[in-house]
Amino acid sequence: MADEQSAAVQNMSIGDGLDKTQEEDFVDPWNVASSSAKGIDYDKLIVKFGSSKIDQALIDKMERVTGKPVHHFIRRGIFFSHRDLHQVLEMYEKKKPFYLYTGRGPSSEAMHLGHLIPFVITKWLQETFDVPLVVQLTDDEKFLWKDFTIEEANRLAYENTKDIIACGFDPEKTFIFSDFEYIGNSRGFYRNMCRFQKLVTFNQVKGCFGFGDSDCIGKISFPSIQAAPSFSSSFPDIFNGKSNVPCLIPCAIDQDPYFRMTRDVAPRMGCMKPALMHSMFFPALQGAQSKMSASDANSSIFLTDTDKQIKTKINKYAFSGGQTTVEEHREKGGDCSVDVSYQYLTFFLEDDARLEEIKQGYSSGQILTGELKKELITILQKLIGEHRERRAKITDDDIKRFMKPRKLKYDY
Ligand code: TYM
Repeated sequence: MADEQSAAVQNMSIGDGLDKTQEEDFVDPWNVASSSAKGIDYDKLIVKFGSSKIDQALIDKMERVTGKPVHHFIRRGIFFSHRDLHQVLEMYEKKKPFYLYTGRGPSSEAMHLGHLIPFVITKWLQETFDVPLVVQLTDDEKFLWKDFTIEEANRLAYENTKDIIACGFDPEKTFIFSDFEYIGNSRGFYRNMCRFQKLVTFNQVKGCFGFGDSDCIGKISFPSIQAAPSFSSSFPDIFNGKSNVPCLIPCAIDQDPYFRMTRDVAPRMGCMKPALMHSMFFPALQGAQSKMSASDANSSIFLTDTDKQIKTKINKYAFSGGQTTVEEHREKGGDCSVDVSYQYLTFFLEDDARLEEIKQGYSSGQILTGELKKELITILQKLIGEHRERRAKITDDDIKRFMKPRKLKYDY
């Protein structure tokens, strides 16, 4: 495959050498920016990153092997790109086990709606394929990148664990870990990090992540930490000592640079390349030019927001594709392709027929911006309200249960 060549690591600079002032989309693990009101051009990104499109043939295959309709995030192209997903499906068909790996960099007290996207699909994948899951909380990453103490980053990891557990993962099949707490205690993790570190040069990591001479050395070696959970040998206590269980990673496309590098290095470590499923970004309230970000509270709806906060944020900040006056709107109609409330509905309104009705009604001017927003507010208040209730019920014992290194229930 073109993206697998070893030399690729050297050449795969993030954003392909674009600087953020250019009139092109920019995507890396820290920044997402598009100059178009319609947001990132994801077809171009597939070409730039060298991944593959999740096309209808792959969707049909997934439905065939699981005997279930795919999740609407897949059906609607929100999970739009992959690496080696067909191989995972083939293994599943042959009853060969795999595991899921995803993560969160705990940078805020609560997660926001954008962070929920990979966790929602991960839950669906866990249920559909009945497989174990490891969730990495990169509190070390946030310590290195942000102005946090180790203690604060670790505390946020615990807070975020509540949001993750509230997504409904199977406690017998899910291990959630903080890097600060787990890495030193695992017999496999640090060894894999060192194996990885030995195979990647400073030049390669600079080329891939854009690190400069004044970046601290912690950042430079960090990719080995995010790579390690892709190998089951990093978790001898979780996977019963099995060293080559295949891995599937659901994430948004911003995390792909880590895993392009991981896939390049894996064979040289004698490990399997992880497969990936990439999602689009859940846009900021202000518009699809950027992703929802925890560092800007007004760009985001948090999973702890109250009904009132949800209503105020949508009404006040959600960028509208509607016209300036009611008369003009009735005459010309709204533009769904830039309307943030409509885009949020494509993620969270599951009923295809109703979504189409809204699209037609808004585009033709029959439905006004206020009506569209009202429908979104009702859906989000229900979704987040239910999440808040589940989150509030999570006890310290629940957290301990998920975070205890232990063999996960699975037939290997
Ligand atoms: P973090 O905390 O930035 O994001 C957590 C997960 O959410 C995805 N994400 C989004 N998805 C859709 N729309 C958005 N607006 C949006 N913002 C964030 C991210 O892609 C990610 O999947 N370094 C990672 C933590 C990590 C990780 C992993 C993530 C460690 N190992 C393995 C995915 C897979 C981070 O800081 O994610």
